[in-house]
Amino acid sequence: MKKILALVLALALVLSLCSFASAEGAKKKVGISMPTQSLERWNRDGTYLKEQFEAAGYDAILTYSDNKNDQQVNDIDNMLSDGVDLLIVSAIDGEGLNTCMDSAAEKGVPVLSYDRLIINDASKYYVSFDNYTVGKLQGQYVETALDLANAGDKTFNIEFTAGDPADNNAGYFFNGAFDVLKPYIDAGTLKVVSGQTEFQAVATAQWSTDTALARAQNILASYYADGTQLDAWLCSNDSTAAGVAQAIESDYAGTNAVVVTGQDGDIANLANIVDGKQTMTVYKNVANEAVVTLAVAKAILEGEVNGEELVKTFDVPCAFDTTSYFTSEGNFANSFLLVPSVITADNLQELVDIGLYQWDADQKYLLAK
Ligand code: GAL
Repeated sequence: MKKILALVLALALVLSLCSFASAEGAKKKVGISMPTQSLERWNRDGTYLKEQFEAAGYDAILTYSDNKNDQQVNDIDNMLSDGVDLLIVSAIDGEGLNTCMDSAAEKGVPVLSYDRLIINDASKYYVSFDNYTVGKLQGQYVETALDLANAGDKTFNIEFTAGDPADNNAGYFFNGAFDVLKPYIDAGTLKVVSGQTEFQAVATAQWSTDTALARAQNILASYYADGTQLDAWLCSNDSTAAGVAQAIESDYAGTNAVVVTGQDGDIANLANIVDGKQTMTVYKNVANEAVVTLAVAKAILEGEVNGEELVKTFDVPCAFDTTSYFTSEGNFANSFLLVPSVITADNLQELVDIGLYQWDADQKYLLAK
């Protein structure tokens, strides 16, 4: 009798943990819309998200929209036509998805903004990293690397390269960094020789490496060809840092090491960090971001999202925020914000330890796992 009871209980547990099948027994279906495969990190995000949701018993549709907003609208509309129960979207353009957000709202399909906020009230949930802190870490790295607090009357020269103005994150990254460094610019300790300090002037459409390269080459030719020393270049992510590092290598006549920041831990940039062409990257564990997204998605589909309680169940630090990321005037997303970290040549092993990268045969460069 006891064996039968144990079996029944085990079966009940399995069924309760199984997928979130709706009452009719059909599996719940999620639509995962990623912006592009041309920026390395999104391939990892898409893979981790699909793996997590399928392992939890969901059907998962995964699309990449080639950094084309119209294609992403089409991809999302198709997901809605396929009857998804939840949309998980990393927006190419945070303000470019209103038509499909309206469709989702009409169909009662909840929307979770993934990493990048959709500026539309249909997106009531947001999972990302603390984007302002990402920028702050970059600014603080430059502040420390140049020892700006103890510069005395020395002046250091810096340039800025921000991200895609269509990406809601890019402004937070830039502001986080600029807010750290502006006091030094105002005091004359830091000088932006090109004079380009406004976000729109330093932004990089589509986060394009080539665009960042061309702009950096132009700045170096225009302002540094006379031997002016360049001490730092604040880049908001790795794809733009790759372009800037290439320009410095090919077009900067100085012999000093230039502090170059980045974000994402892209493989080529980690190699640049080993080779001294980039100085740091802000790492965001997108595997953790996928796990948190799954937990929030489950709560959404169960009809009960208690953010304060939910974050207590996570194995990783995650803040619940309802006042930082607005989707319209006076309306804020329920935001789950993970914590970024700084990676330099001195702690690359940390990326191996978390199981997402491995050393090459010579134990010199990191490879994706
Ligand atoms: C941002 C993202 C960053 C950065 C950029 C390019 O929205 O948060 O990790 O890499 O897109 O993909």
